[in-house]
Amino acid sequence: MKLMAVNESILGLKAARNIYSSDGTLLIAAGFEVKEAYIKRLKELGVYSVYIDDGVREVEVEDVVSERTRVEALKLTRDTMTRMGAGAKVGVDEINKVMNDIMDELMANPNLMLNLVDIRAMNDYTFGHCVGVAVLSLMTAITMGYNQFDLKKLGMGALFHDLGKIKIPDSILYKPGPLSPLEWEEMKRHSAIGFELLRERGDFNIVSAHVAFQHHEKLDGTGYPRGIRGQEIHEYARIVALANVYDGVTTDRPYRPRKLPHQAILIIRDGVRTQFDPDIAPAFLSNVAIYPVGTVLVLNTGEKARVIEVTKRHPASPVVRVITTPDGHPVEEGRKIDLAKSPNVRPVSLDEP
Ligand SMILES: [Fe+2]
Repeated sequence: MKLMAVNESILGLKAARNIYSSDGTLLIAAGFEVKEAYIKRLKELGVYSVYIDDGVREVEVEDVVSERTRVEALKLTRDTMTRMGAGAKVGVDEINKVMNDIMDELMANPNLMLNLVDIRAMNDYTFGHCVGVAVLSLMTAITMGYNQFDLKKLGMGALFHDLGKIKIPDSILYKPGPLSPLEWEEMKRHSAIGFELLRERGDFNIVSAHVAFQHHEKLDGTGYPRGIRGQEIHEYARIVALANVYDGVTTDRPYRPRKLPHQAILIIRDGVRTQFDPDIAPAFLSNVAIYPVGTVLVLNTGEKARVIEVTKRHPASPVVRVITTPDGHPVEEGRKIDLAKSPNVRPVSLDEP
């Protein structure tokens, strides 16, 4: 399967994965042919890329959490955030259950890395982003050796870190261009609003409220809202800050297309020490695949090869299958190379579609 842009080029091809909107509606079902009406609908919803079945069976990617749990978490997050914004009661038991499900699945698969792009509808970006940030934050904390009790508090804070956005007008949240200075000031209020909303209710641990408050703070004190620095920022918020930036830049937005994982990883590495905690960044980075399964790489031999497996031990050296000769001719049943065991072969660039 491979990730392709939503345009006429996918007409008649088969979708490789289900895509849901945040209310749990199936937008496109795996195995079905993409029709013209689907392309139109996906564009309307701001879905810019989809996984297409290209017949390559070797590339089957497993998500770090099951589709059922991710969709359930998405629905509940949307429902809970909307209710909290309106001051209504929320189903805390249900949220606890889905958080436990996410934690159980992540702990059962400690060797899985984030390999998939989470396809989201743009018009409800916030909710998918919250689930994505919770999953990435928990993966990082599991690597750091957190216990169940701490994971839960962190997970809740991560899931609702952007709760305050529920009070920010859609015209700012989904503006298809850069924000004006005034709009930007309004947008920045979401950290403090989320903190107040979470603190007012007894349903959540106060630490989770502080995650919402501090997730845009930076290590060197140049973040917002308070400009606190270093260890003054709660460790949970330092974890969520990494997950937040990574998830944000790898998702399509109205004003810019998503970045590829290796580009997002460079952004994280560039921000270590100024923006991100150098003691936490390695734990975070060990959980995201630089070259996700399915990516086509150009090797120093001139051949092109498709990534078929990535391991945490060697995140920059995946196992690949050669698909073209150095002069570009397709190869049937090309050889399999474990780049971690082949010091003379290395990727030089990505073959971008
Ligand atoms: Fe935020």
